[in-house]
Amino acid sequence: RVCRDGQSPDKLRKSTDELMAGGVTGGAAGTWSDRFEQGLHPFIEAFNASIGFDLTLLQEDLDGSIAHARMLASVGVITEAEAEQLVEGLETVRAEAASGSFQPGLADEDVHFAVERRLIALLGPVGKKLHTGRSRNDQVGTDLRLWLRRRLDGLDQDLQRLQGALLTQADRHRRTMIPGYTHLQRAQPLCLAHHLLAYVEMLERDRERLQDVRKRVNICPLGAAALAGTPVPIDRQRTAKELGFSAVYANSLDAVSDRDFCVEFSAAASLVMVHLSRLAEEVIAWASEEFGFVRLSDRCATGSSLMPQKKNPDVPELVRGKTGRVFGHLQGLLTMIKGLPLAYNKDFQEDKEALFDAFRTTRDCVEAMAILFEEGLDFRVERLNEAVEQDFSNATDVADYLVSRGVPFREAYQLVGAVVRRCLEQGCLLRDLDLSAWKELHPAFEADLHDALAPRAVVAARRSEGGTGFERVDEQLQRWLQRFNGTQPVG
Ligand code: ARG
Repeated sequence: RVCRDGQSPDKLRKSTDELMAGGVTGGAAGTWSDRFEQGLHPFIEAFNASIGFDLTLLQEDLDGSIAHARMLASVGVITEAEAEQLVEGLETVRAEAASGSFQPGLADEDVHFAVERRLIALLGPVGKKLHTGRSRNDQVGTDLRLWLRRRLDGLDQDLQRLQGALLTQADRHRRTMIPGYTHLQRAQPLCLAHHLLAYVEMLERDRERLQDVRKRVNICPLGAAALAGTPVPIDRQRTAKELGFSAVYANSLDAVSDRDFCVEFSAAASLVMVHLSRLAEEVIAWASEEFGFVRLSDRCATGSSLMPQKKNPDVPELVRGKTGRVFGHLQGLLTMIKGLPLAYNKDFQEDKEALFDAFRTTRDCVEAMAILFEEGLDFRVERLNEAVEQDFSNATDVADYLVSRGVPFREAYQLVGAVVRRCLEQGCLLRDLDLSAWKELHPAFEADLHDALAPRAVVAARRSEGGTGFERVDEQLQRWLQRFNGTQPVG
């Protein structure tokens, strides 16, 4: 369990032990209404608590409470002076957290109670007015949405950084070639920039998806109270506006029991991870002796504790490996929500660790990949350009050559297949056959065949829209670079 804002997991563990020894706790007994005579069983108190991980929401909880306090004054439920005291008290908690002196423990149960308790300790009776017309149910929903909205904006920056790193590499390799594969078998040669731009496109769709998620994250549940709304004359529009939400939930039940935005985020994050993982897998293969397409720099590679010659691609391997966690959180969230009756159920407390970890994992992996492409690897240009010379990946082009001279494609395809077989038997490549041999195979072959078979010509010839032809790739790169230098938003 990670508890970020100053509270060490050890401390929490120690307090569990203390509580176990002490039997009935003062904390929980002090929280609930006088309906409760006994405190929680110490193990259950620890089991029930979310303070070990939801302290992450502290800033958002304070922001939400400040907006709520101001709203209560604006509708006359509390006085302006009381609202001022509440805001000041909440800012004091913020300062205490910054200095490390705000140290809630298990007995506080969660961040919402921890803040409220501290406020009451600071302000006395006025502190007890903050929770008027509000429940932890709408409060936690508000906090979580604020938290995710802010982080989505940061993640978009990180994705742009990775796109930028790929674009810089693509720009450097406008004329470098790389074998293109299908079924991991050599298929047709490609322009390396084209290969890298494919990932830039994927990441762009990821950014669009996250922007779309943001729209539905940015709706305010505050004021739904426990589930049914409140007789207190609150102004939901006011709090929503102050917190930067674009709208309020229309239905109070929906507002407090909806976690679909967590699912949507995890789904979008899962796709980010799918893309990163595929790129990572390529880098791992490229860095192998067998491919030898990239050289890893010391900044982003590790050695072996035993084998002195080794240089390992740990960074892309970790990215590939961490992908499973994000998929797992998506699955966990879907399963957690699926059978829940309306409205709030404590099951929802389980959303946090999933959401926090899905976010942190995704963001860290995006950043790691950005660093990898910024300074962690070099493409081995000579080896790449040589690699495309050593195979039959120009075979389609022989067929296309015949097609351009009136031979039906299927006939040309059969003929070239037979030539490839012959070459394999003789241990040579297509370019090693001389013109007389070609002419014997088909009279349409002319002296220009050899030039047409050169990989650079093969790549250049693929001028169809979206193809790998160098000029086409230049156009695409230009479009991306313009967009990036203007740093226009998605859409
Ligand atoms: N810690 C709780 C959560 O994360 C806050 C909401 C508690 N609401 C309740 N009715 N017990 O979901």
